[in-house]
Amino acid sequence: MTKLEGKHVLLGISGSIAAYLSCDLARKLIKAGAQVQTVMTDAAKAFITPLTLQTLTGRPVIQGMFDEVKQWDVEHVGAAQWADVFVIAPATANVMAKLTWGLADDSLTAAFLAFDKGRVIAPAMNTVMYENPATRINEEILRERGCLIVEPQVGLLACGDVGKGKLAEIDDIVLYIEYALEREKPLKGRRVLVTAGPTVEDIDPVRYITNHSTGRMGYAVAYEAWLMGAEVTLISGPVELKALPVCRTIMVRSAGDMAEAVFREKDKADIIIKSAAVADYRPAVQSLEKIKKAEEGFSLDLTRTTDILAELGKEKKAGQVLVGFAAETQNLRENAKEKLEKKHIDLIAANDLTSPGSGFGTDTNQLLLLWQDGGSKELELMSKEEAAKELLLAANEIWRERND
Ligand code: CTP
Repeated sequence: MTKLEGKHVLLGISGSIAAYLSCDLARKLIKAGAQVQTVMTDAAKAFITPLTLQTLTGRPVIQGMFDEVKQWDVEHVGAAQWADVFVIAPATANVMAKLTWGLADDSLTAAFLAFDKGRVIAPAMNTVMYENPATRINEEILRERGCLIVEPQVGLLACGDVGKGKLAEIDDIVLYIEYALEREKPLKGRRVLVTAGPTVEDIDPVRYITNHSTGRMGYAVAYEAWLMGAEVTLISGPVELKALPVCRTIMVRSAGDMAEAVFREKDKADIIIKSAAVADYRPAVQSLEKIKKAEEGFSLDLTRTTDILAELGKEKKAGQVLVGFAAETQNLRENAKEKLEKKHIDLIAANDLTSPGSGFGTDTNQLLLLWQDGGSKELELMSKEEAAKELLLAANEIWRERND
């Protein structure tokens, strides 16, 4: 089940060429299980037709306030009451100014004024208009009032200029909609450091040693931590996953790189979650030239890498919570307990790689949580996002006991 399943999204479209991208947004939201009601300004209708949106969403578009005098009053207030979240994409400079000052001279702005739940605004306009102090101030005021601003991208604009003003990626707008829908923010104020993915140890310019980790679990932890209100830094090994623009991300390659990045960042974090599958060994010598084959066999000398988690356990900042993972193929509880104790961590999430739905690259995971005081909890098989949420709540509980 996606976070958008069954949710009511009010999609406001204003008059920018980026309006055509709203069709993609509407389609993605519907595919994710949401119901979408669109409201368009007259200027938006100059770029795309209401029929397009009506066809995509299966609902008539709310348009001019006075087109259907009998209904408008019900429509914009009713839509505001119906919706769980209101997203305006694209939002022009003109619409942002109206939203800031509480004008309500069309259905979109009137609905905005009548709406008191999560609001997401994705501006799109010419760079000079975007950078104009009037727009800057308006954006700032909207942000202060709790609107989530999905900043535009830097790129080639329809007017031919290159600069900031291009509508954000649709997938990123969806992330912010999910954030607005998640009303509970138990990790607000918390700084969470997450490591994810495999590490890659080069043998020579052609070959390397790595493992099967895809980063799915670590990215789920980072994403859920952000949704729950945390400020997230993600240190990621090479993965094929879509980047998480809402997290400050540091990409690394080897265990050595990861150790360096973690040690640089560790003191800023309240909670550290080490989901990465870090190599325990690396080639003793990394050849700068390609190693040529010989007639006889070949053996590779390996040397130990730093155990990052164990090092973190030795010099934990006061109040900090340290969470590790244990991926096992046998004696799950015993092996995880041993790691928990040996590495001096607060909480360990163990998973049995041989159990169906719990291995690398799956969308699900079944975690066994073990605490330092001997407590434990067996979670059901659930999505990696749900498992991440459970883990974060458990880690946050420890943080609160120590810091509140
Ligand atoms: N870990 C780490 N640095 C390493 C190896 C592991 O920080 N060089 C962390 C992982 O991120 C994970 C935890 O240690 O949170 C457990 O990793 P795992 O490889 O399963 O355990 P090991 O201690 O390496 O033990 P073993 O390989 O013998 O199972």
